[in-house]
Amino acid sequence: MDRKVKTIGILSSGGDAPGMNAVIRAVARGAISKGIRVMGIHHGYTGLLNGDVFEMNLRTVSDILHRGGTVLYTARCPEFKTDEGVQKGVDMCRSLGMDGLVVVGGDGSFRGARDLSIKGVPCIGVPGTIDNDIASSEYTVGFDTAVNTVMQMVDRLRDTSQSHDRCSVVEVMGRRCGDLALHAGIACGATCILVPEVPFDMERDVIDKMKKTLNTGKHHFIIMVAEGVGKDVTEIAKEIEMATGVESRATVLGHVQRGGSPSARDRIVGSSMGYHAVELLEQGIGNRVVVMQQGKVIDLDILEALQQERVFDTKLYQVANDISI
Ligand code: ADP
Ligand code: F6P
Repeated sequence: MDRKVKTIGILSSGGDAPGMNAVIRAVARGAISKGIRVMGIHHGYTGLLNGDVFEMNLRTVSDILHRGGTVLYTARCPEFKTDEGVQKGVDMCRSLGMDGLVVVGGDGSFRGARDLSIKGVPCIGVPGTIDNDIASSEYTVGFDTAVNTVMQMVDRLRDTSQSHDRCSVVEVMGRRCGDLALHAGIACGATCILVPEVPFDMERDVIDKMKKTLNTGKHHFIIMVAEGVGKDVTEIAKEIEMATGVESRATVLGHVQRGGSPSARDRIVGSSMGYHAVELLEQGIGNRVVVMQQGKVIDLDILEALQQERVFDTKLYQVANDISI
């Protein structure tokens, strides 16, 4: 049997992230340059099930490198969590002649890729999410842009909060992961950073710290709160105002964090990871995720990658705490 890989597919899945287009471009051009056909699949696994597929060429991916979002659109597809849904996906890959598939997304999307791989469609996962919550990878495409977006937004909040001697309590995304809050918090000089990975006590870790810094002459504050903490920022702001007397305002940054032109880092890492995925599929290798470890782009078995536990950077958290006084 001729096992040469002739056609591969690519889809983006889960929440979009800046830099997904860099991955898509690298997959399309990397594959075409190796003589492999590439099918673009719209709207994630939903599009795969519906056959919402088109053949990509070199020019399909022109002028997308600098654009946020994903030109392939994305979706969450509950049907894909069922055995029947995955089987339908396998049948669709077979009928479209796809010998492999690249899936850009987060852990959930990788589970779909694992299921397809187990049923015989070689899949490669590429981490694309602003949350940086994939245990097996130091980095996920989109994170750097989101950190910079949050930093720019909070710099604006700082201007007004400084002018009014106020406290800004800012909620950032990240699902159950505190990385976005931690990195943006350091970049913005937040007085406190509340993350799900580190238990905190409002009185000791926020109110007392604010009171101490008030005594040293500080008169405006930024409190960065990861959404995964699960505490309403309006309530936190009220609590702070009552306990410290500092007028406080709450801001939920929301989906602005997911948009915007990708940073150089996200374009570069996205391009490298996308190309690496094609190199694997070209060799007929599937059931792998492309990850970054010690600054290098490598690949791991999907099952092993999904079993890894995230390690929170407690040293960086301590740095943030110790210098925000
Ligand atoms: P992310 O990929 O960013 O973690 P989700 O968790 O929303 O985002 O997952 C994206 C999609 O991946 C889901 O809508 C579903 O189609 C698919 N998916 C998630 N979990 C599974 C699973 N356990 N098995 C198969 N497919 C899954
Ligand atoms: O996973 C990316 C992310 O933006 C999370 O940070 C956030 O919790 C979630 O997606 C929001 O999802 P939705 O776009 O469905 O509101």
